[in-house]
Parts: sequence; C-alpha cells; structure tokens
Amino acid sequence: MQYGFFDDARREYVITTPRTPLPWINYLGSESFFALCSNTAGGYAFYRDARLRRLTRYRYNNAPLDQEGFHLYIRDGGCVWNPGWQPVQTELDAYSCRHGLGYTVIRGEKNGLAVTQELFVPQGDDCLLMRVSLRNDSGAVKTTDLFPYLEFCLWDAMDDGSNFQRNYSIGEVEIDGAAIYHKTEYRERRDHYAVFWSNRKPLAFDTAREAFLGLYGSPARPEAVFGAGCTGSVAHGWQPIAAQQHRLTLAPGAEERLIFGLGYLENAREEKWEAPGVINKQKARAMLARYADNAAFDAALAALGQHWETLLGVYRLRSGEEKLDRMVNIWNQYQCMVTFNMSRSASYFESGMGRGMGFRDSCQDLLGFVHMIPERARERILDIAATQFPDGSAYHQYQPLTKKGNLAVGSGFNDDPLWLIAGTDAYLRETGDWSILDEIVDFDNDPTLAQPLLEHLRRSFGFTRTHLGPHGLPLIGRADWNDCLNLNCFSEHPGESFQITGPSEGPVAESVFIAGMFVKYGRAWADICRHLGLADEAAEAERAVAAMEKAVLTSGWDGAWFRRAYDAFGRVVGGRECEEGQIFIEPQGMCVMAGIGKESGEAALALQSVEDRLETKYGIVLLQPAYTRYRLELGEISSYPPGYKENAGIFCHNNPWIVCAETELGHGERAFALYRRTAPAYLEDISEIHRTEPYVYSQMIAGKDAPSFGEAKNSWLTGTAAWTFLSISQAILGIKPTLDGLQVDPCVPSFLRRFTVTRRYRGAEYEITVENPDGAEHGVSEIRLDGRALSGNILPVLEKGARAQVQVRMG
Ligand code: BGC
Ligand code: NOJ
Repeated sequence: MQYGFFDDARREYVITTPRTPLPWINYLGSESFFALCSNTAGGYAFYRDARLRRLTRYRYNNAPLDQEGFHLYIRDGGCVWNPGWQPVQTELDAYSCRHGLGYTVIRGEKNGLAVTQELFVPQGDDCLLMRVSLRNDSGAVKTTDLFPYLEFCLWDAMDDGSNFQRNYSIGEVEIDGAAIYHKTEYRERRDHYAVFWSNRKPLAFDTAREAFLGLYGSPARPEAVFGAGCTGSVAHGWQPIAAQQHRLTLAPGAEERLIFGLGYLENAREEKWEAPGVINKQKARAMLARYADNAAFDAALAALGQHWETLLGVYRLRSGEEKLDRMVNIWNQYQCMVTFNMSRSASYFESGMGRGMGFRDSCQDLLGFVHMIPERARERILDIAATQFPDGSAYHQYQPLTKKGNLAVGSGFNDDPLWLIAGTDAYLRETGDWSILDEIVDFDNDPTLAQPLLEHLRRSFGFTRTHLGPHGLPLIGRADWNDCLNLNCFSEHPGESFQITGPSEGPVAESVFIAGMFVKYGRAWADICRHLGLADEAAEAERAVAAMEKAVLTSGWDGAWFRRAYDAFGRVVGGRECEEGQIFIEPQGMCVMAGIGKESGEAALALQSVEDRLETKYGIVLLQPAYTRYRLELGEISSYPPGYKENAGIFCHNNPWIVCAETELGHGERAFALYRRTAPAYLEDISEIHRTEPYVYSQMIAGKDAPSFGEAKNSWLTGTAAWTFLSISQAILGIKPTLDGLQVDPCVPSFLRRFTVTRRYRGAEYEITVENPDGAEHGVSEIRLDGRALSGNILPVLEKGARAQVQVRMG
C-alpha cells in the first residue's frame, strides 16, 4: 500500500494522507542550522548540535505521536484545523505534503480555505523560514485567525529534559513588535539567542505555554485558539514559547501570504546588550530584513534549488528504469548529504542527545558524499583525524559543536582507525588532492602532538598491524563495526553500557571482519604509499596484508563461509560448531570485497552461503540462527529479541557489502537483485509493512525471526546511505574513481542493455554511455573517448572544464 507518490520531475515525494504509518520526515538545512520536519509539521530545530544547541523541544516517545513542531492553527468560523492535520486532527477536505530537497510544503484545505505552509532553511543563513499562504476558494468573505506556535528548548536538550528544578525558573523572553526573542541564560554565560518573527504585526501573541495551551490544555486543544485568542503573556520561567495570532480578512478568491522565521544569532560579549537587560538585536533585525517579502523568500528558495541542482549534477544516471534513476539521481544522494550533516545524531529515532558524531560513521559517510562536496569532505577528514590518539586508535565519537572527542564512549573500537584510511582514500580518488596528506593535524585535539595527515593514516594502519591476537587476526577491542559484538565486556548489570563495561582490550578476542578491512584498506594504504614514492613502505604494507589474508583463509575460514570472530576464551564466533550465530553477514561482505579467496574459491562459497542461509525476501539478515538468550560473552548482540537490530535483523548497512562483493565476482544479475531488495523506492507499495519513509533507507528491517518481519526502524541516519550509493554507482554501474582517473567497470543485470552516466570528475564532465547488446553481466570490450579507442578502462583526467563523450561496450 502507498501513502503518496514520487514526483521525480520536482524531486519530491508527495504524501497524500497525514496518517502515514509513522511520521515521515524531511531535513531542512545543510550547513549549520537544521530542522527536522514531518509530514504533519512536527519536528524540531537546532544550531549545529542537536544536544548542546537545541532551539525547539521535541518529545520523542510521546503519545499521541509527533506533537511538537512548527504547527499552524487556523480558526475559520467555528472550525479549528491545521493544514498538516496535526495536532488538532480535524479532518481535512484536502491534504498533501511535498518533501523536496531541503524544503517541505504542507497544504491543507477546509471549508473553502486553502492553506499552504512552505518551510526551508536558506543557504548561508541560520534560520528556518516558513511562508504561509491562505486562499479563499469559497464564495464568501472569510475572516480567519492564524496562529503559529512553537515551544523553545532551553538550549541543552539533555538538561532541558531533566533539570526541571532549575529550568522552571530561568526561562526568559523579550517581545519586540512582530518578533519574540528567546533569551534564557543570555543574562549570564550564553552569547546567543533565538528569535521567532513574522513579517506582519500580529493581533496578539503569547510567550508562556500555560497561557497559550491552558494549564491542562494540550497542543491538540490550545485554549487561546479554541477560546478568546492570545493573551499577551510574557514567560518568566516555566515554558517559553512563541505563539502569535494574526487576523486576515479574505475576499472570495483572494490570497494572502505571511512569512515567519525562526533564527539563531550570536553576539560578541561586549556587544550583547542594547540597554541594560535588553538584547542587542541588530543582527536579528538584519536577518528579518533579509526575508521581509515574497521576492526575498522566493529568491532564497530558488538559490536552494540551484544548490541541489549543482550537487546532484555530479552523478546523473539515465537507465530507463524509473525507480533506479530516482534512487540514484535524487534520494540516495540526498540521504548521503543528510548523513554527512547529522552522522547518527538527530532523527526521529536518534534523539540528538545520546550520541555525537561517530568516528567510523562519519568516515563511512564520506564515501557517499565526497563527490558532491569535496571541500567539506576535506574539512571533515581533518576534523576527524584531529580526534585520533597518537597510537592510531580513536575516540569513538566527537561532538559536532566542539569537534572534540567524546569521553563518554571512550575508545577501543578497533575497526575505527582503518575507516580513516577508507575515507581519506575515497577523497584522494575523487579529487586527486594529495596536498591533504601534508596538512598538519592534531592528535587528540592537542596541537603539540600535531603531525601531517599522512602520519595519521600510517598510525591507523600500524595500530591494527600491531594489535593482533593468537591467530594473527586483529584484536577486536570493545567492538568492531558491529557495536553489539562485545567480546571483552561481560556486562551483567542493567543500565551498564554494553560497549564500555570491562577492559577495552582483551588479549584474545579477535575479529575476522577487521581482518577483511585490513586487507581492503591496507591495500589502499599501500597504493597511497606507492603513489607518494614510498616504495619500501608500500611493500612492507603489502607483506602485512598478505599475512593477514593467509590468517583469514586459515583461522578465519569455516569451510563454507568466513567466521566472524574469536571470543575472549578463543572460541569461534560465527562457525558451524556454534549453537546459535553460526554465520554472520559482515565478514562475508568485507572479506570478499577485499578480494580474499577470490582466486581460490572461498569468496564464491561464502556468497553462496549468504544466499542459502541469510537471505530473505526483504533483505539479508545479519546472522543465523538468531540468539535466543543473553550470552554474557557476546554482549549486546544477544540482548535483542531475535530478528531485531544486530541480532538477526536485516541490518541494511551491510547488505550493500554483499552487493559489492557479488560484483567483485562479476555477478551483475545477483548484485542488482540484492540492491533492489532493500532500495526504498522498490518498497513503496509495501509501506504498510515497511512503515518508514519510502524515499530513504532505514538502519534496519525486522528479520525473519521477528514477529514484525519486514518492518523498518531508524530511518535516515545510517551508513546504508553511503554504502548503497557506492554499491550502485561504483560497483554495479561501474563508474569508479581511482587514484589515476575514472574507471569504467560495470557489473549489471542483463535487462540493463544501455545506460548513460554523466559524471563530473576533477573539474571535467564525462558523458558515459554503456551499451550492453548481449546482456553481459561483466566485462568491457571497448571504450572510446570522443571517438578514440582507449586501452584499459581508466578514463584519463581531463582539463578542468573539458567535456568528453565516452562510449563503452560490454561483452
Ligand atoms: C545499537 C547499535 C549502535 C550502538 C551505538 C546499540 O544499541 O544496537 O546499532 O551502533 O548502540 O552505541
Ligand atoms: C550503528 C552505529 O552507528 C554504527 O557505528 C555501527 O557500525 C552499527 N550500528 C552496527 O552496530
């Protein structure tokens, strides 16, 4: 069942009922000001950091769902309604929500009044804009009241939600004409404030929640809206809000538009005050003036559109397969940008309070967006590297506001260091900007320890190489990619962190997955060394990689698949002899991607085992058989009920590893079949089962052992975005950036007889048309660049601004 449809020409998903199976959201903003906005105008806003600088409140596990946000109330005659249906839930005569690239348009109609709410964050500014258009389609004059409403958060979302004894006394606002300023703690150590404004003077306002909603009122029935209107309340403590009442008289056919905004501003300490106790509002006034009229609003929206046009112009596919084009050209890349901005911090599942930016997560996100915004990728790599410890290990997380490593989770996740090589390698392949390796970057954010980025990569590689266990495989530490495989933790007490209980490093527990990574990214490291003329170092790295490959094929091989790990007692995890958890997806994906066992046959066997043992109609589950009881020696993985999350859920992130692995063996048919299985656009008509947004990937889909098999959770913020984009754009369609140029190496299903990819790469544009007359799965027989035959399949790097036509023939 569908709850809307894709409008590809406008790059929008159009939701046609407010009763979606879950709130279906969008992300507004891609620089420093962000808002999440659901299809019923629920959501929240923050500046850079969803925990430390939260602008509006959100209660995640509320009932009814999704009550806080950017709601508008319409009072028209005796009827109160919202254009997005929530929170009053008055039935509408018509409803739609268009989620587009960085903007959302919600439209509701009732009794001949059509109200449209357009929301976006303009490029280069720290505010959310909201334009409200009201059109009287009835035959009579209408006098209508319009109430926008939002609830301020007292900045630190964690403290705001827990420290009530203080917080109920500190809320402060200022009212200045059509603007409401939120200035809690501005009197002391905060040099920032928020402002909500409209471009027209309201009839009345409220800034105290109790006055607007009523003491026992709710967003579903605000007293001010259902009763006598806004009261002019001034918040002192309790819950500061911004609400206004506007009265409009509309002749039949008439339309009125109002512009609202929510801005965030900072003042230098010596310029904080305009008069004692009064905020210096100069910057806010300038912001308001920038969006005073419709022309300014339209221009900012057009600039946003242009921004996306440019970003999505870097990789464009025409395949004739509608759903594929839609995922590749629009939604997958869009999600990659969102994961770049948010990492795993703020969604409707990630509260923005629990986790900062993940070291491994951010490095993987790079793989999906580096082609769109290489300059920001560069900055991100340097930021991440600056949190690395001198021995090459890493803080597992860092806070986006401070860019400092986050001690809450500490370090010791032994896959982390290698992801820095993966991210930097992707950057080098994309840009050819070798100068990044010379950048001097702190270790542990300490400038006295700074070294060139190259040294950081060297230590990443060195860390894994020097932390090996009894089988010559890498020690796992607190966990590897699978945060829930906690082989050294032994957590027995409720509430303890599964990840950081116990020693950070056991001398025995080893990871076959990290071994696969070491082979894959160790080779990348060797290539980088060779490129830099460091031949000895490259050769030495290759020797270490070869030794690791050998260790995997002996101690990491189970007969028909790769084992997962050895536990703290040296017992196999993910092997035939295990009672449960006999086979895991991760080492099959990573080891085959690394090319391990490709020649000797193990790789093919491993993928066959995935098909036989892990594949389901909704995707590949993480392991089988699921763990049915808690196992102290394995940790969080066995804490989940069977079929959920890491315990045999379909963890979407590692499905594309198998896709990539299949292409490694030249299996185009199979790779695409697997790609399709979890691609959201292909799941649109089972939205009642899948439940999350049909335009983005979710972290996981309940596996076959779960009662809710097929139900997705944790949409948006997942490494799935980057890895699926890589799997389709590089592994299947075969347009692969390498250190030497753009390689064309498709591995496709036989139905794809012809496709064109337009790719901007290092300043030039290649229009690559692949012809596959005989339906080959793999192999290129001829490549012509502007008519000239090329030897090999790597397109040369062209001059900036050059355009080339590339004809590729498969078979
Ligand atoms: C989740 C993992 C996640 C980890 C992060 C666990 O509860 O299942 O997916 O990586 O928390 O701390
Ligand atoms: C989500 C985490 O953000 C990611 O870092 C981890 O690899 C996966 N869960 C698997 O546990």
